[in-house]
This record gives sequence, C-alpha cells and structure tokens, in this order.
Amino acid sequence: MKGKFITFEGIDGAGKSSHIDAVKAFLSDRGIAVRSTREPGGTMLGERIRALFLENSMSAHTEALLVFAARREHLERVVWPALEEGSWVLCDRFTDASFAYQGGGRELGASVIAKLADWVHPEFQPDLTLLFDLPPDAARARVDGRGVVDRIEQESAAFHTRVREAYLARARNEPERIHVFDTRASLTIVREQVLASIAALADHAATVRP
Ligand code: TMP
Repeated sequence: MKGKFITFEGIDGAGKSSHIDAVKAFLSDRGIAVRSTREPGGTMLGERIRALFLENSMSAHTEALLVFAARREHLERVVWPALEEGSWVLCDRFTDASFAYQGGGRELGASVIAKLADWVHPEFQPDLTLLFDLPPDAARARVDGRGVVDRIEQESAAFHTRVREAYLARARNEPERIHVFDTRASLTIVREQVLASIAALADHAATVRP
C-alpha cells in the first residue's frame, strides 16, 4: 500500500492520545496527507459497536469478536482505501490492543487473538506502533483524574498489569515495529522521542519512493 499505517497503544491513562494531534501536524507540515481514526470505532457501525463494547458487560470471547468485527469494517471502509490513496493513517489502538486487553487482560491468550488477526487482516499490520508505557498505578491516577471512567478502565490493577505485560511482551518480540515510550518522562521529552520515530519513518519512506 502507498501510505503508512501508524498505531498508538498503551494501557488506559498512559497518555497516548495527547500525541496523535502532534504527529498529525508534523506529517501535514511535511506535505503528507494524514487521516486519524480510532478503534473500536472509525465507521458508523464501528462506533455503534464501540458503544456496545464499552457500555455492556460480556464474555471475553464476545469482546474479542466485537472488536474484530469493528476492525474489519474499519479496514475495508476507511483504512485500506486511505492507504491505497497514499494517505498516512494514524489509528488510536489496533490489534495489539486485542492481544493486550483480551489476550492478556481477559486471559484468552495470544494464540486465540493471533487466529482472529490472521482471519480478519491476513498479512496486514502497522508499519509503526507507538506504545506509551506507564506503571498501572500511575495510569490509574490519571484515568481517575478525568472523571468519567468506562467499564474497561474500572478493571482491577491485576487486569491492567496483565494488559501492560502483554503489550511489553509484544514490543520485545517486535522491537523494530513497536517503539516504547516511558510516559513518566515529561510531555516535552516524550513528544520529541515520538516525533523522532515518525521522522525516521517519513525519511525512510521518502528515500524508497519511486
Ligand atoms: P480508548 O478509550 O483508548 O479509545 O479505548 C477504548 C477501550 O477499548 C480501551 O479500554 C481499550 C479497549 N480495547 C480493547 O479492549 N480491545 C481492543 O481491541 C481495542 C481496540 C480496544
């Protein structure tokens, strides 16, 4: 595909969302067409699935099936067409979140999620994933500070610790794709590190462009 697919991940409260706009502005300044979106969501149906997912308690399997249903819709209608046109797509969470939350947090295990991923988007994965990492107690304090706490954010410290471990395990297995940022550092420092990763990808894309 012509564009690049960049995903933003991390436990709830790790601080990922504050960087998406900065990345968008950075790439736009370089003349790159950018589209930002999110999962679950990103389409009309996907946003309805997101509301069902966040507002109702359900089995771990149902959670996994819902996020992958929303994902396929999102890929077909939004992500793949945008990448084909040459836009870069910034996505607030993607399949690494399913490995972390359903595979790790809900303890479905990585192999179940890998099977779903292979079926829903065979041979497609992000060009770059930015993983924002923070110990769960610090992340929890940030979530509580926002006021509104959803069903997943309300989960136990043990759940969020498993989510974090699953994310970090994926980063250890794929260090070239998944860049980890310790968000205990100041916002300015993290922002600089994030933009350095993005600049490296943009420079590389510019050199290999025909
Ligand atoms: P957000 O609030 O960061 O947009 O994410 C919504 C919640 O959905 C967040 O708690 C993580 C969760 N989630 C999953 O459990 N599995 C997934 O595959 C995705 C994409 C999100």
